[in-house]
Amino acid sequence: MNTQRLRDTARTLVADDKGLLAMDESNPTCNKRFAKLGIPQTVEARRAYRELIVTTPGLGECISGVILYDETIRQQKKDGTPFVKAITDAGIIPGIKVDTGAKDMAGHPGEKITEGLDGLRERLKEYSQMGARFAKWRAVIAVGDGIPSRGCIEANAHALARYGTLCQEAGLVPIVEPEVLMDGGHTLERCGEVTEAVLRTAFHQLNSQRVVLEGMILKPNMVLPGLTCPLQGKVKEVAVGEQQYQVRLTDRQQDELEDVDEVADVTVRCLLRGVPAAVPGIAFLSGGQSPELASARLNAMNLRFKSRLPWALAFSFARAIQQPALEIWLGKEAHVLAAQQALVHRARCNRAARRGEYNAAMERTGTG
Ligand code: 13P
Repeated sequence: MNTQRLRDTARTLVADDKGLLAMDESNPTCNKRFAKLGIPQTVEARRAYRELIVTTPGLGECISGVILYDETIRQQKKDGTPFVKAITDAGIIPGIKVDTGAKDMAGHPGEKITEGLDGLRERLKEYSQMGARFAKWRAVIAVGDGIPSRGCIEANAHALARYGTLCQEAGLVPIVEPEVLMDGGHTLERCGEVTEAVLRTAFHQLNSQRVVLEGMILKPNMVLPGLTCPLQGKVKEVAVGEQQYQVRLTDRQQDELEDVDEVADVTVRCLLRGVPAAVPGIAFLSGGQSPELASARLNAMNLRFKSRLPWALAFSFARAIQQPALEIWLGKEAHVLAAQQALVHRARCNRAARRGEYNAAMERTGTG
């Protein structure tokens, strides 16, 4: 195994304040997002959309790697140039999603186990020959009444670790993605407990299965309250002169005022407890946060902690980079340029967030 090459690739993926763009939605997921916006759910529409992304001018200044899906890695631009060549020519490293999806876990109602280990060695060899230099596998952990179970956390961690070693054997850097989902009414604290348990178990398994930590990237969730958490409208003490008042913040005010720093603190604490210093980079998924909040929270983590952390804190967003562009494109050729501008804007905002230089004014002026 060429561990030096793995280390170099992993380091390059998080170098120069860049991050990853996940464009590896499976066909059903991509179709679902298209359907919501009235975009035809066809192979050609998916190809055209991915062409829009990979030909976005300036993308390589902020994006180090893109994660492709099996259909996409085999596709070409309209002029016949393979996507992999277009991506590489833009100075971006191509990667590939290799799990085959999260399926209901037997004996564990409400929980999922990610599949895709069978035949993985052969598939990795093929993807490597096609030009992929890293891969991604996503495990999903739901939070709810009595879940996650130990069985679910352990089975998913074991699969992530087996995938990790197979990737490294094939010369591909594994992006290890154990995602604690935002769905549900759980609190920030509960998300923190679950995320910590998931990370500890994942790294226990990664070590047992001999994954070279220096040659991998971790792709975790940020520690966040569930989407329907009743604490969203939290009470805050406000001083006016000598008087103390209790003010109930609206969801949006809370998000913007205090949630950003709190999320940054709790997330970094959780990562410091669970992620070995040998890992070169942590690239967050966005998980359903708005693009602006995902950037603001990443920014707060880097602003407050960057100089004291052993690993780079980067991004590997799908929705938080793509969604505004998709909503502009709507499948229309005439909208391609405007959609590309929206895409590169989000990429720039996130590069700024890696530097702790993101601010709300960038959103108003569209600069970055
Ligand atoms: P989101 O950023 O939309 O959560 O997607 C990241 C990803 O790659 C999911 O596997």
